[in-house]
This record gives sequence, C-alpha cells and structure tokens, in this order.
Amino acid sequence: MRVVIVGAGAMGCLFGFLLHKAGKEVCFLEKHPVLVKHIKENGIHVEGISGEHHIFPPITSEAKEITRADLILIFVKAFDTYQAILSAKPLVGQESVVLTLQNGIGNVEEIVKVVDQKRTIAGTTAHGATVLGLGHIRHAGTGETVIGELDGNKTPRLEKVKTFLESAGIKVQLTQDVIGLLWSKLLINVGINPLTGITGLRNGELLDYEETRAIMHRAVNEAKVVADRKGICLIYPNHLQKVETVCQATAQNISSMLQDIRNKKKTEIDFICGAILREGKKFGLDLPINQALTHLIHLLENLGQNI
Ligand code: PAF
Repeated sequence: MRVVIVGAGAMGCLFGFLLHKAGKEVCFLEKHPVLVKHIKENGIHVEGISGEHHIFPPITSEAKEITRADLILIFVKAFDTYQAILSAKPLVGQESVVLTLQNGIGNVEEIVKVVDQKRTIAGTTAHGATVLGLGHIRHAGTGETVIGELDGNKTPRLEKVKTFLESAGIKVQLTQDVIGLLWSKLLINVGINPLTGITGLRNGELLDYEETRAIMHRAVNEAKVVADRKGICLIYPNHLQKVETVCQATAQNISSMLQDIRNKKKTEIDFICGAILREGKKFGLDLPINQALTHLIHLLENLGQNI
C-alpha cells in the first residue's frame, strides 16, 4: 500500500515516521516550500517515546510528482483541510482511500466537497506529538487510533487499512459510529485545548487547579448539551471523567492549541469550541463558556500575530 501523508506537521511527521520505519512506502505532500526544502535536506528527526530516529522520506509540494496513492492521510490543521484535499485530489483514484484523523468537526465535510464520499473514511488518534522545529518532533504519547466508514459499514477496505496501520505498530480499533467517535473526541478537545492555550499549562496540570477544572467541566457540559440535542451517541459513559483521564494519560503533553499559540499560529478553535457554538446556535442555545474560550483564543491569536 502506497501512503501519501498530506501535511508534515507534528502528527503527519509522526505517522509518516512510524510507517516509514516499518518499511512502508510513504511520501509527504506539504504546501510550505520552506518545510519541503528543510525535510529534503535534513530529513525528519523524531525523539521521545519511540527513541531517536532520523529518516529521509520523499516529500514534495506537487501532487503531480507523486505517481499513485492507495491511502491518503490528511494531517493538516482543520482550517487547511479544503486546500489540502484539493491539492491531493489528482492522487485520488478509483481504489484510493482518504483518511482523516484530524481534530475538530468539519474536516469530513470539507473532504467530501472535493472527493467522493465513498473514498473517505474518518477517525481519531490518541497519539500525541510536539513540533520542536522544522521536521523535528517529539513523540509524546501513544494510544488507540479508531477508524470507521462514514456510513457505519464494516468493509474489507476498513479491515485492510487497520491491518496495514497495525503492521506499523499503530494500534487500531474499528467503529460503526464515526460521528459519535468524532464528537466524543471533540468533547475532549473542548475540555483541554482552549484552556491549555489560554493558561500555558500542560494537559495534566489542568487538573491541579480548581479554576481550570471548573471551566473545563462547564465547557464540556455545554458541548454535551449540543451533542445530545443533535442526537449524537457519545461513546464514553462519563464524558467528564474521560476528559480527566485523557489529561492524566497525556499529562506532559503540550496540547496542539498551546503549541499553536506559542508558535504564533492560527489555532483550530473555530473547529472545536467554534463548532459547538455553530451547532448550538441551530438550537438557540446560549453557550457562554465556549463563547468566552473562543473569544480568548482569538484574542491570543491576534495578539501573537501583532507582536
Ligand atoms: O489536540 C491535542 O493536543 C490532542 O488532541 C489532545 C487529546 C488534547 C492531547 O494533547
């Protein structure tokens, strides 16, 4: 199976590295020429729980330089998904599969604007990675990757993707309710990402303070109300406990949103709390905590960009 990873950020580099290390045919499609040049010349450096590695996978910003893709893994930030899938479109053949494991709600919707829904599968991953520099990452945590067909069917190709990823040491589970899965991950991101972005705390430290815990609980409860109104079947019996468990399991992680704030980059807030606000609005719901978190992250983005 020939894999194309779209986006050579933290998670793209991590999955690309795990597949490359297992001897799979991997190529990167990355839009930033500086990053492409850097990785061509210096490779990808990985440190952390998988040990120290240095690999030189092929990378390009032109899909036409890639001959074929059986599996296309989208690992760009949610606000770049549309452009990313447009750039990868020439690679999507009759048998190709596009897999998104990105954070937030809205990625699947963007992908199916460009490629046939039948070519797309979605999921979540609990692997964590931190960017330390261009093409240089720390593998911060492992965990399960869960994938499913959009229509809930258990298909042979889903099994094939699972077997393929598992042969690279990536543990995979299948789900028949991918929407429930994406919303369950969304609640985790609502609880962790904006609060870490605003306070500068690591995931685990959010549990050390009454104040952050209180805001986390209220934000996640608001998101749960929206999910319930939409009739989403959340997969964890106790969503608040799940958010806390993820904080503990990823205690040392610098969340993706905190990384973005520190690096003065645009965050995924509009696809996390912003998605809760958009969906809640359809039911006339007032969601003050998600609104405040969204405002504060936007403010930090603007301040960062103005420094
Ligand atoms: O976005 C992230 O950083 C991750 O999805 C999570 C689960 C919050 C862990 O850091």
